[in-house]
Amino acid sequence: MEKVSYKEIGLVNTREMFKKAMNGRYAIPAYNFNNMEQLQAIVMGCIESRSPFILQVSSGARKYANQTLLRFLAMGAVAMIKDADSTVKFALHLDHGDSVELCKSCIDSGFSSVMIDGSHHPYEENIRITRQVVEYAHDHDVTVEGELGVLAGIEDEVSAEKSTYTRPEQVEDFVSKTDVDSLAISIGTSHGATKFKPEQCTRDARGILVPPPLRFDILEEIEKRIPGFPIVLHGASSVIPEYIEIINKYGGRLSDAVGIPEDQLRKAATSAVCKINIDSDGRLAMTAMIRKVFAEKPSEFDPRKYLGPARDELIKMIIHKNREVLGSADQA
Ligand code: G3H
Ligand code: 13P
Ligand code: ZN
Repeated sequence: MEKVSYKEIGLVNTREMFKKAMNGRYAIPAYNFNNMEQLQAIVMGCIESRSPFILQVSSGARKYANQTLLRFLAMGAVAMIKDADSTVKFALHLDHGDSVELCKSCIDSGFSSVMIDGSHHPYEENIRITRQVVEYAHDHDVTVEGELGVLAGIEDEVSAEKSTYTRPEQVEDFVSKTDVDSLAISIGTSHGATKFKPEQCTRDARGILVPPPLRFDILEEIEKRIPGFPIVLHGASSVIPEYIEIINKYGGRLSDAVGIPEDQLRKAATSAVCKINIDSDGRLAMTAMIRKVFAEKPSEFDPRKYLGPARDELIKMIIHKNREVLGSADQA
């Protein structure tokens, strides 16, 4: 495939975004996408709320959507923003890159930021592959996210039964040896819609599951050791209860779905956490609306009639997150 730099496409890397987010005590939303409706919703929601954002692509999404088409979709998003006379900037980011080759290939095809997820490897190996990615990326002025500590749940094609919290005593060494630009940490979040087992939770007066709080003590310890360094939270969907209710009402079966409460994310966003990853909530918003249309209008078969409402709901969700949770609205 022909090489292209993100700068030619009109994208930015994450360096300036994170600096502003750190100073302004908010977090940049990183939304995953696989298809046109998700992309439209992310772009429209972030234009409307005037929020900088990170457009995330997992390796699974890259296979699903086709890597060449993805580049043109990102270019289309830049053009859409320009047409709307908006000043919103975004980075195109590889989520959970699992090899040096994949990261290089994304850099060559127009990504402005990559994650190399070496968290499942032994520490020294994590440093080695992360360092290799950083060398190539920085030669292209692309920013790199590394990860220390393991999140429970599915991390793309790698799944972990149990989480291992990030060890604060490793972060200085990891950051200085790898020269990464941001660091994903594990403080109790996890991927997917079932982030905690019911036995890990308590129940509120209405019987709704309340998850254990995030380990802000570990985050504070990390902040002390690498002051002002951008931290990333994966697995940060709230698993919005209203969507779970709609899904289950219209024939879905999502039991024990529980996520990270918004007040905890808000608190994290005012700290050194500069990037908050959201994928599952977007999936839930779309699924809820599609199920509703299918149940209420069984004779409907025009995809626009169910993907349209799904997209509209996703726009609302994104505006809400940017304004009320991450604090990134009006920062474009
Ligand atoms: O962290 C994983 C993201 O939610 C991407 O998920 O690998 O199913 O695209 P995916
Ligand atoms: P959620 O599954 O909580 O949305 O997390 C997404 C994520 O971390 C993508 O890397
Ligand atoms: Zn993740």
